Amino acid sequence: MTTRIPTGRDYSALVQEDRVHSAIFTDEQIFQDEMERIFHTTWLFALHESEIPNAGDFKRLQIGRYPVIATRDEQGEIHLLINRCRHRGAQVCESSHGNTRRFQCWYHGWTYDTRGDLVGLTGPEAYDKDFKCDAHGLTRIPRVESYRGFVFASVAREGMSLSDYLGSTKPYIDIMVDASPIGELQVKPGVVNRTRYRGNWKQVGMDGYHPHYVHMSVFKIFSKRESTTGSAVGALHLEDPFADVSKSRTRGFPHGHACLDFREQRRPHADASIEELRRSEEGARYVDDMISAYGEERARDLIAWHGDPHLGLFPNLQLIHDHVRVVIPISPGETEVLMYPVFLKGVGPSINEKRLRAHEAFYGPAAAGSPDDAEIFERTQRGLLADADPWVQLGRGIHREEVDEDGSVASCISDEITQRAQMQEWKKLMTRG
Ligand code: FES
Ligand SMILES: [Fe+2]
Repeated sequence: MTTRIPTGRDYSALVQEDRVHSAIFTDEQIFQDEMERIFHTTWLFALHESEIPNAGDFKRLQIGRYPVIATRDEQGEIHLLINRCRHRGAQVCESSHGNTRRFQCWYHGWTYDTRGDLVGLTGPEAYDKDFKCDAHGLTRIPRVESYRGFVFASVAREGMSLSDYLGSTKPYIDIMVDASPIGELQVKPGVVNRTRYRGNWKQVGMDGYHPHYVHMSVFKIFSKRESTTGSAVGALHLEDPFADVSKSRTRGFPHGHACLDFREQRRPHADASIEELRRSEEGARYVDDMISAYGEERARDLIAWHGDPHLGLFPNLQLIHDHVRVVIPISPGETEVLMYPVFLKGVGPSINEKRLRAHEAFYGPAAAGSPDDAEIFERTQRGLLADADPWVQLGRGIHREEVDEDGSVASCISDEITQRAQMQEWKKLMTRG
């Protein structure tokens, strides 16, 4: 019956090859340790560069336990600054995003510039002559690197490069970026769906097993649609991408990254998508621009793939269909999910409008996709709290995994490779000395 959590905070027994202990979803101490051992050691997604394009632009966000302000300074450099006044600790920025030259603390007026330097000390004569303003700037997140506009941060001063961390997932990120004929995306900080559910952050993952059950009602509605373009969601009805007999694959990568790889399943439908696009003026221009930018063969693939890598980058980023999804753990039993629709640069407005409408149809607050997911996560959390028999099974398809050329482990779309990849990374980080 009940297997209690091992004492001494050795978590290695909680994650086995084909099952995990439910305490990793429910235990308060484990959650606190996750913040230290995972969120304060790995690379975390912070924001997309296009969210703060101009000097003085800023956006508030969360990096692990820290509230952070992302800024762009006069030289165009991006900084991630902890939103905590160096005097007595008040948050110096309360706006979600905007443009400014200075952040003035509301409490006693200390003022910082967009690099985080302390440029205004109120009543300076009261301070000792040895007080150094330049030693009291806002604290910086020490490592910030980006890949194709996606900015990542690490609280750890040392560690592997972002490039090594992303490894062979980079071509999947390219699928999203290269849906734009100029290879540039636009993410808008104020255009976001925000969901909070009463469940653990690790519930939000890549899962090719659940759509036939959780999302069947919405798929039935989509199957009556004529449109195939604008979003991969609209293309689902072409054939069932979640059937194990389909060419869809599920993949696990090093460092806990995971993907539902629909590339081979979608590739044969390129003609249908291109034909439909060519029926409108802006769609025809989009096809032509994609071919000039990438060549016929690559453009056909990119159009068939709809800019959807369906990729999860452990622990807090997912690139799904036409949005960027950020996972923010609040407590063991509460999670916030932010979904930012992605707009393509270099295309006519009707292309982006169609993508946005398709995004809203599945992921919007009044849609039937994301609300179904939030509901099942809450039901799961309630079940997990009943720990009479605490093991969670993740062994589906373990006997038919194959290692692919890029080093990923791949199998049928409904196999639980994705969960196993994430959990093995969890174990590695949580048990590291
Ligand atoms: S806490 Fe910021 S100026 Fe006092
Ligand atoms: Fe789902």
